[in-house]
Amino acid sequence: MAPAHNQNWKEWYQGKTVLLTGATSGIGREMARILAGCGSRLILCGRNPEALAALKNELGPQGNQAALETYCLDLENGEEVRELCRSLQVRDPVDVLINNAGFGYMGDFVSMPEETGLAMLKVNMDAVVLLCRSFLPLMKDRPGTGVLNVGSVVSFYTIPGSAVYAATKHFIIGLTDALHQEMLPYGVHVTGLYPGRTHSRFLSRATNGALQQWHRAADPEDVAWIGLKGLTENKVRVLTDWPNAAKAFVARLVPIRFFLKTAAYRAVPKEK
Ligand SMILES: NC(=O)c1ccc[n+]([C@@H]2O[C@H](COP(=O)([O-])OP(=O)(O)OC[C@H]3O[C@@H](n4cnc5c(N)ncnc54)[C@H](OP(=O)(O)O)[C@@H]3O)[C@@H](O)[C@H]2O)c1
Repeated sequence: MAPAHNQNWKEWYQGKTVLLTGATSGIGREMARILAGCGSRLILCGRNPEALAALKNELGPQGNQAALETYCLDLENGEEVRELCRSLQVRDPVDVLINNAGFGYMGDFVSMPEETGLAMLKVNMDAVVLLCRSFLPLMKDRPGTGVLNVGSVVSFYTIPGSAVYAATKHFIIGLTDALHQEMLPYGVHVTGLYPGRTHSRFLSRATNGALQQWHRAADPEDVAWIGLKGLTENKVRVLTDWPNAAKAFVARLVPIRFFLKTAAYRAVPKEK
């Protein structure tokens, strides 16, 4: 739960048009709830029409109904992403883009279906590039706009058993750090959010339903507001808690062979 004090950052979002991917579940859904409370105009994307409709019903009564739109699209499909960009580029400008949608796969690389690996590249990387490339040029003339890209603590190191997912999240940190610096002269904020284990549907999806929830994990609402606040401060990187920040730091200090053998525990948690 966000602390009651120091909520001034929420004003940054007031009246802004926010395009949010992955709004139907987990961290993205919490972001949508917080942003609706900030008085943002919301464009919420997801694949699941029922979940989008439920979100619209839930958030509409906050007086934001006219300012809340939903887009049902599959980010795996580059043409659908381009169509979304085209239709939004000719309307009111998007002030804030949040690339939150993503998914993982947990298991050995050699057992991973080829199409799962390729779909991960499309959703976790290609869609992020397409959306950033569409909206950042339009933000350049409008200081106070911004992009929040959601990576993971595994953006800082890799983990055997989650090779492709970790690689896509390395991409996010590489892209986001560079964009942060490129957009600095224009007053456009670009921030990476790097959560650790968080309660959501992520684990269940990544293990094809074999595991439902992490043993110990962060509350998605906490992760959501930490990321949203970080963007208002134009932080380069936002890690969501100290243990994850420490892990990311230590991973760079210890020899890689030692890290891979020990600290880089296998990504697939043991079934109870
Ligand atoms: N949970 C964790 O432990 C954790 C840790 C580090 C980083 N992260 C990152 O946090 C972000 C949010 O994940 P989460 O934990 O909130 O997981 P989640 O509950 O599974 O939510 C993922 C969201 O992404 C959307 N999505 C996935 N594939 C999509 C596709 N092909 N097209 C359109 N939308 C798609 C989902 O939409 P539908 O439901 O409509 O399919 C859903 O809204 C992801 O980028 C993830 O990598 C999560």
